[in-house]
Amino acid sequence: MMAIAQTDHEINDDRRQPSDAAVSRILDRPKGPHLRIVGESVEWRGALRDARQVAATDTTVLGATLQPPSKRLEAREQERQEIHHKIDAELHMVGLRHFGEAIAQRMELIEVLATRFNNDSRMIRRICLAVLDRIASILEPELQSKLDADSRRDMSIAAYLHDIGKSGPFDAPQATQEAIVKLYAVENVAGPDQTIAKTVRMNFSFEEAKSVLEHLGSCGMRSTDTMRAFWDRHGYWTHDILEADSEDIPSRARVVAGSHHMDRGIDPYGFSSADYVAMLENRILMAVDKYQAAVVRSQKTHGEAMEIIKRILSPKYGNDMIMDHVLKVVDEVRQEESLLAAAS
Ligand SMILES: [Fe+2]
Ligand SMILES: [Fe+2]
Repeated sequence: MMAIAQTDHEINDDRRQPSDAAVSRILDRPKGPHLRIVGESVEWRGALRDARQVAATDTTVLGATLQPPSKRLEAREQERQEIHHKIDAELHMVGLRHFGEAIAQRMELIEVLATRFNNDSRMIRRICLAVLDRIASILEPELQSKLDADSRRDMSIAAYLHDIGKSGPFDAPQATQEAIVKLYAVENVAGPDQTIAKTVRMNFSFEEAKSVLEHLGSCGMRSTDTMRAFWDRHGYWTHDILEADSEDIPSRARVVAGSHHMDRGIDPYGFSSADYVAMLENRILMAVDKYQAAVVRSQKTHGEAMEIIKRILSPKYGNDMIMDHVLKVVDEVRQEESLLAAAS
């Protein structure tokens, strides 16, 4: 039986895996200047799908026989450029004017191996901003004055980057990053107590399983550890990546991103901010992340998803006034969006 996705990492329905060689080529990033800001309406999904399809079929007989080598090289270079430009454009769009190479490289790796994770983060970012905007419009003046353009920017960056740790520790070599993304993408897990060894045995070939276990070992994970222990690492790895490559990423955005599983005690920053905006954004991201997992991964209705996230959050946030307000606004915003969608 498949585990119920209560958090944001269990299920990935994108089973097409490009070859290792294709991934390496795509991630051998060009060093050109980053793109300037491209509007939110930038149209990249079709191009990305095309690039992924080419990567996925890279080693097929079809690809090998129908295209001369020079054409294949050209196509690969184009794929690489497209993914690179898409992620660069998005990083600018979410509010980062500059960013370190490592951030873009991780997001590109996730885009290639587990697009679903980036798509979740895109959707979560959109809902977080809608919730923040709604709260900003109804707050009493004293609290409203604490919110400004920086608050919105930090919410946007935190939501977009919060799961970057699903690519492993900051100092992991690329082969280890790939092994970790692939294990996060496994959806065939009976429950959180299943061991890493069993999950790997059930989902990878003998050779690949051996390699994945070795890569995990280099990050301090043992084959006898549970999947829950593995899943719980990504909040710490998000923290490590954002702190090691923090160039121009606002501190509040880093803290909110790394603290998105604080309800489970995953608290790499020792979050104890007195900053109202940080507290508000921390709770918005925690709630929306769980809402998205319940609706998209576990296929729950809006009402069921709200019940699930309230139940998960209540032991720690049952008496938290900010969380209470956030949950009410998530409920309202999502209900209104579904009414609008039904009417259109
Ligand atoms: Fe997430
Ligand atoms: Fe997460």
